[in-house]
Amino acid sequence: AVDLKGRHFLKELDFTPEEFRHLVELAAELKAAKKAGAEQRRLRGKNIALIFEKTSTRTRCSFEVAAADQGASTTYLDPSGSQMGHKESVKDTARVLGRMFDGIQYRGYGQQVVEELAAHAGVPVWNGLTDEWHPTQMLADVLTMAEHNTKPLGEISYAYLGDARSNMGHSLLVTGALLGMDVRIAAPESLWPDDGVTAEAHRLAEVSGARITLTEDVDEAVRGADHVHTDVWVSMGEPKEVWDERIALLRPYAVTAGVMRATGNPRATFLHCLPSFHDLGTAVGREVHARHGLEFMEVSDEVFESERSVVFDQAENRMHTIKAVLVATLG
Ligand code: CP
Ligand code: NVA
Repeated sequence: AVDLKGRHFLKELDFTPEEFRHLVELAAELKAAKKAGAEQRRLRGKNIALIFEKTSTRTRCSFEVAAADQGASTTYLDPSGSQMGHKESVKDTARVLGRMFDGIQYRGYGQQVVEELAAHAGVPVWNGLTDEWHPTQMLADVLTMAEHNTKPLGEISYAYLGDARSNMGHSLLVTGALLGMDVRIAAPESLWPDDGVTAEAHRLAEVSGARITLTEDVDEAVRGADHVHTDVWVSMGEPKEVWDERIALLRPYAVTAGVMRATGNPRATFLHCLPSFHDLGTAVGREVHARHGLEFMEVSDEVFESERSVVFDQAENRMHTIKAVLVATLG
């Protein structure tokens, strides 16, 4: 039996395929129990710290609701609300919080920060997104794909279009490789995943039987795919100066109705971790629209709002999967 008590979740590869699948299955059970009004509170008396050095809607709310459902309390530390990194080292912060809390969530920049927290906290640390990885998102993405597919995980194929040299590009590549899936990444070569991540994915694929494709050709990537993923073209923490170049490079990789048709699979679904710039209904979006005359960025409104879009199931599943991580590592 899988036992994850006391474990950190810093990146996907902290877990074996069996452990990863166990978390997805536990999330499905917790989701069903909540919907049936039969949830058991397994985290009563636990206290959880939530450190956010970047903003969040889904991840923060998921941790807070999941903890509340399970009877645990949370303390939110916003980018200006703690001494960490300004007046106090990560190591000292880890040792202080580890004396008060049963677990710590960290969202921020460098992966080395969450690794250092984990090294010194003495309690489980969970990565709620770094520049390099977005592991809790992967549990939600796999659960969502599984819910919209009758195939076993190892037979599912998915394409990711857009900036693949990013947390989402890296995480989607290694997750599919770990679980033996058919993963296709379509991006201009300069935005393909980091070489080290790609090498790791190929090593994993040899064991899992995963198929890995990196291509600049959108049609090749999406042909026959069960799911099409994308993400924003510029991630949190990247400088404003990259927008122009990124848009020029990624324009051909936007997910349009034509791209969905090119899967040849009328049941193919669209996924996006969100937030999205699909409708340009944001300050950044309006500025980009004015400068570049784009109607949309990474995905068209038509696809985002279509029946094939499962982005809000995916967002909901953040909560159920994060609850599974809390229950498995603290319960
Ligand atoms: N997908 C995701 O992590 O969303 P937030 O940035 O809102 O947490
Ligand atoms: N790649 C995005 C994901 C947001 C959930 C970012 O890092 O901003």
